[in-house]
Amino acid sequence: MDKLKHVPVLKDAVLGCFKDINGTLLDATFGGGGHATAILEQNKHIRIIGLDTDPDAILRAKDVKYKFYKRFQFFHCNFSHLKLLCREFDGILIDLGVSSFQLDQAQRGFSFQHDGPLDMRMNSNEGMSAKTFLKTGSEKELIKAIRDFGEEPQWRSVVKQILYLRHLTSFETTFDLVHFLLEHTSLRRSKKPGIHPATRVFQGIRIYINQELDHLQNGLTKAFVCLSPNGILAVITFHSLEDRIVKQFFNEKCGKSLHCLDAEPRQFKQAQASLMLKKPVVADDNEISSNPRSRSAKLRAIRKNL
Ligand SMILES: C[S@@+](CC[C@H](N)C(=O)[O-])C[C@H]1O[C@@H](n2cnc3c(N)ncnc32)[C@H](O)[C@@H]1O
Repeated sequence: MDKLKHVPVLKDAVLGCFKDINGTLLDATFGGGGHATAILEQNKHIRIIGLDTDPDAILRAKDVKYKFYKRFQFFHCNFSHLKLLCREFDGILIDLGVSSFQLDQAQRGFSFQHDGPLDMRMNSNEGMSAKTFLKTGSEKELIKAIRDFGEEPQWRSVVKQILYLRHLTSFETTFDLVHFLLEHTSLRRSKKPGIHPATRVFQGIRIYINQELDHLQNGLTKAFVCLSPNGILAVITFHSLEDRIVKQFFNEKCGKSLHCLDAEPRQFKQAQASLMLKKPVVADDNEISSNPRSRSAKLRAIRKNL
């Protein structure tokens, strides 16, 4: 399993955000510990608590524990349950989405490029697999996943055909779903260069069954509560739905209301934080060519006011 590798995205910018922190940092999405290891190596005074909802991360965390011993602790936990940890952090990093460990392992069922059981759960011990969702989800739930979370323009055809044919169709594997989409929906005519026609459907189903956006909203609220005064919250997003939630949350904490139409007076709330990065940091061409996953990454960061 761990011949696979995950390259941490925007590593230098993340290190820059936390370079002056000397207390405890929470890595809320530990993954393979790429960011955590880099931060622990950069700053000998920092301690890190790592979380991940994926049980496979427990084993990888053992390697980091072995290397940094008392400076590192890991909990198998969803970051939206953050408050259970009952403590304050001087910095919190949330690096969203799936890791290369998850994407590149066929048996996790995340990728249309590897044939494996159609699962897609980040925490394989709980919740509903993608296969069960496709077999039992209501029309409303399928629309939510494929239109709203996948932002798939052909969502009508995809949802209609799933509902119409699912009793006759096997959705056992990722390739079953890919073949279904290419044979029975209007995605067979999709010809976007460089983008596999199943990309958005896979993304939408993954976000839906893992409740990623709900966890993000909850996680941000709880993370901010757990942040000490002057503490830094940095978040890396990989698509516009995530980024919108983070941007709105940060704007609200920084006293900027996004919901002000021109006709209405602008309402400024008391700022509880300030933007650390005026603009989101994105990967440069070098990083994108060596790690294509970084292509859509955006790093935003705020500092909680004293
Ligand atoms: C992009 S990877 C993080 C990679 C990590 N920064 C590194 O350098 O190795 C995202 C990780 O977040 C985890 N994850 C996603 N949503 C989560 C949540 N709500 N709570 C905890 N972990 C989550 C995934 O299981 C995955 O391992």
